[in-house]
Amino acid sequence: MKAIQDIWAKKAKKEGYRSRAAYKLIQINKPHKLIESSDTIVELGSAPGGWSQVITKLKRKNTKCYAFDLLPMENVKGIHFQNLDLFSTEFDECMNSVIRKADLILSDMSVNLSGIRVIDDEANRELNLFCLELSKKILDKNGALLIKTFTNQNLKTLKMRFENYFEKVFIEKPEASKTSSAEVYLLGLIPK
Ligand SMILES: C[S@@+](CC[C@H](N)C(=O)[O-])C[C@H]1O[C@@H](n2cnc3c(N)ncnc32)[C@H](O)[C@@H]1O
Repeated sequence: MKAIQDIWAKKAKKEGYRSRAAYKLIQINKPHKLIESSDTIVELGSAPGGWSQVITKLKRKNTKCYAFDLLPMENVKGIHFQNLDLFSTEFDECMNSVIRKADLILSDMSVNLSGIRVIDDEANRELNLFCLELSKKILDKNGALLIKTFTNQNLKTLKMRFENYFEKVFIEKPEASKTSSAEVYLLGLIPK
């Protein structure tokens, strides 16, 4: 299994992607053409920049892209990066006064694992709900939200919350995501 997973890391190195995670976004995006059909994209938890590289490759020429992370990130052409915590007032101000509306919100965020399952699950749940609440504030009609989440006791309720807000909801497990990992992606299309 490790050999299969290493394929993505090797491929990333060869093709110049900063992370193997880039292929997860490529694979999820492919059937939905989320990036190609958006005018404004907000990416949450973008460092080291694999997803940003994919976005900049697939986006339309005039599409505006904003990326945020707690950690610094080397510049990716065509992406406005800000080194901010999403739970900061600066981030809030940026959403309210600069971005205001988006067609696509992407989040590959997860917390640094403490190793204590209930604490980690709760912290990730908080990140997930943050993304959903942000969508309610800034997502345009026909918009989409894609978030990383985990197969655990919170997934069912989270999916229900997505179904209350979006016309269509999908759980995605891209080929590039380790089969041994509980990680999955929730995609919501078209706010109701
Ligand atoms: C798995 S990495 C993202 C990898 C990225 N998609 C790529 O392809 O390179 C998750 C990121 O989420 C960021 N993150 C977690 N919590 C955050 C928060 N509260 N505010 C901003 N970024 C956060 C972490 O710093 C980390 O860089």
